[in-house]
Amino acid sequence: MAKVWIDGKTSIEVEHAEGINVVHLTVDDKEIAVSNGKTILEAVERAPGIGNIPALCHHPAVKPYGACRICTVEVSEDGGSKFKFVAACLYPVKEGLIVKTQTEKIKKLRKGIIELLSARCPNVKRIQELADEYGVEKPSFVLGDQDCILCGLCVRACQEIIGKSAISLVNRGIYKEVAAPFYAYELSGDCIGCGDCAFVCPTGAIEMGADGRPTLPKVKIPYAEIEAMMKKETVSPS
Ligand code: SF4
Ligand code: FES
Repeated sequence: MAKVWIDGKTSIEVEHAEGINVVHLTVDDKEIAVSNGKTILEAVERAPGIGNIPALCHHPAVKPYGACRICTVEVSEDGGSKFKFVAACLYPVKEGLIVKTQTEKIKKLRKGIIELLSARCPNVKRIQELADEYGVEKPSFVLGDQDCILCGLCVRACQEIIGKSAISLVNRGIYKEVAAPFYAYELSGDCIGCGDCAFVCPTGAIEMGADGRPTLPKVKIPYAEIEAMMKKETVSPS
């Protein structure tokens, strides 16, 4: 018999039966059971009160992509001798897997990601909540006042749920943004106005307009701040 946790407070004694498509893993020192084929994030979401894994670019309706890395956890496949960092939204559960979701290393890593997101999107509620939870102070540098974190969920929802590509991520680096493909000025007839992009967006960056079509995030590139930062970086020490 083994003790398996259903949530943070309730456990049951079960027999590990052969031939059942269930795997057992330990999350923050509590063993849980989940059907094979799930990811660590899905397993933890089914066990309220166990583990703490934030996720930004994940939505159950679309395939995981691993864009934001905020869901990083430490895992061991050899009983706890060696641990490695993995993205919980991508990593499949395995029998005997040990998962740690809140070590100091993980908190530091998530804090760094939140600092970057706060510098880009200081006024987005979800980012502010994460900043409070992880003790991220006001960022020391500013990358603008965007509301899009470039997670790509809207683009994937359009492709995977609707089977269209009415929006896409265009450009690279600081110029990357969500736009109509090939930077067309307007959304094409591919957009059926379903609103899925707005629904899955974790930051509220996409809104449905009065014409029944999404209003895409407006990118505000802070040229002055970036120029000042670059000058600071390139000034050689005296
Ligand atoms: S608009 Fe929303 S869903 Fe789309 S990339 Fe930006 S934050 Fe993600
Ligand atoms: S939620 Fe896993 S990488 Fe974004």
